[in-house]
Amino acid sequence: MEGALPRRALFGFMVEHSHLMQTYARLPVSFVRGSGAWLWDSKGRRYLDAVSGIAVCGLGHSHPVVTQAICDQAGTLMHTSNLYEIDVQRELADRLCEVARMDRVFFCNSGAESLEAAIKLARLYGHRRDIQCPSIIVAEGSFHGRTLATLSATGNRKIQTGFEPLVQGFRRVPYDDIDAVRAVGDNASDVVAVLVEPILGEGGIVVPRQDYVRELRALCDERDWLLMLDEVQTGMCRTGQWFAHQHNNIVPDVMSLAKSLGNGMPIGACLAHGKAGELFQSGSHGSTFGGNPLACQAALAVIGVLQAEGLASRAATLGKRMLVTLREELASLPWVKAVRGKGLMLGIELDRPCAELVHATMERGLLINVTAQSVIRLLPPLILDDAQAEQITTTVADLVKGFGRQT
Ligand SMILES: Cc1ncc(COP(=O)(O)O)c(C=O)c1O
Repeated sequence: MEGALPRRALFGFMVEHSHLMQTYARLPVSFVRGSGAWLWDSKGRRYLDAVSGIAVCGLGHSHPVVTQAICDQAGTLMHTSNLYEIDVQRELADRLCEVARMDRVFFCNSGAESLEAAIKLARLYGHRRDIQCPSIIVAEGSFHGRTLATLSATGNRKIQTGFEPLVQGFRRVPYDDIDAVRAVGDNASDVVAVLVEPILGEGGIVVPRQDYVRELRALCDERDWLLMLDEVQTGMCRTGQWFAHQHNNIVPDVMSLAKSLGNGMPIGACLAHGKAGELFQSGSHGSTFGGNPLACQAALAVIGVLQAEGLASRAATLGKRMLVTLREELASLPWVKAVRGKGLMLGIELDRPCAELVHATMERGLLINVTAQSVIRLLPPLILDDAQAEQITTTVADLVKGFGRQT
């Protein structure tokens, strides 16, 4: 057949050729339907989803309120342009600023784009202060996206390799090390901002010391830097607060959001507080799709449900229970290095690579993810019920126990 590519083997399964670019090592399963925390594959098999599309479907699949909001808006008006007023975009900005205690929002379509906006804000802030080549302090182990600027900010060489020259203007420090941040500031006069994730997501669910983010806030105030938090994965109630930094009682200058903001409808947002909110002027930045009525209506519905169902405290309670159970079951095993997390963002770090556990759990009807090679990552939907939470902890504990004995 013309254009056919050879079938290839992946984890023992034969994969059909495809005209898709080969950017993803996909698992050999295709889901056709979802409801709540459940997904069904094309063969009719049911799976409990502890991945949520990588922290996207916080309200689970096909949430009726979000579905209805999308259908109503799609039948009324999907897109106009930022050439015109968009009432629902204003309304969403108001609601987001209310829960985030921020002042202004720029809407875009993904996490990487929300970070691009943040990086541009930091550079503008620097130029306003006559710093010609402003730099941003970023952390080792971080992940901020796949565009050129965001992969340059990312603290993972694997993501950067092959795409050099990288975008300049980032100074890297170890994560959760306030002295390292201070030392960079002492030795460089071009720093204008610090950009970190409040908890490393792709980097392996690394929860910093309780005081880290508060100390960063104080240091940024002292040096007149912007504190920019990447809450793309941690935001929208996942960690047990609307935003992870609220555990530390601080307000950042800039915050990026995406993922579960639209529960599957692509939407990102860059929020700013105080002086950072005044940097973009007409013509500074833009996006064709950013903040269109369809995406905004979905996000408004998401915020409404998160609020009405008290899902932040649900995530806190359930997450704590799952963490305690997993620690009781696993922490003493020699091949388990750590069991950690906050809310429904949980990680189990093993002493060896464990990607094959994804297949073993799938065979038992459970979807999990492995990140940073050896960290089992659990990001279930926040609407999880008690029985589903127990099914996740029991299945994962059982497989981790067996895994260490076999390998
Ligand atoms: C913390 C963080 N920032 C940024 C991104 C990039 O988001 P997107 O894939 O929507 O561009 C991700 C994606 O995983 C993320 O986890």
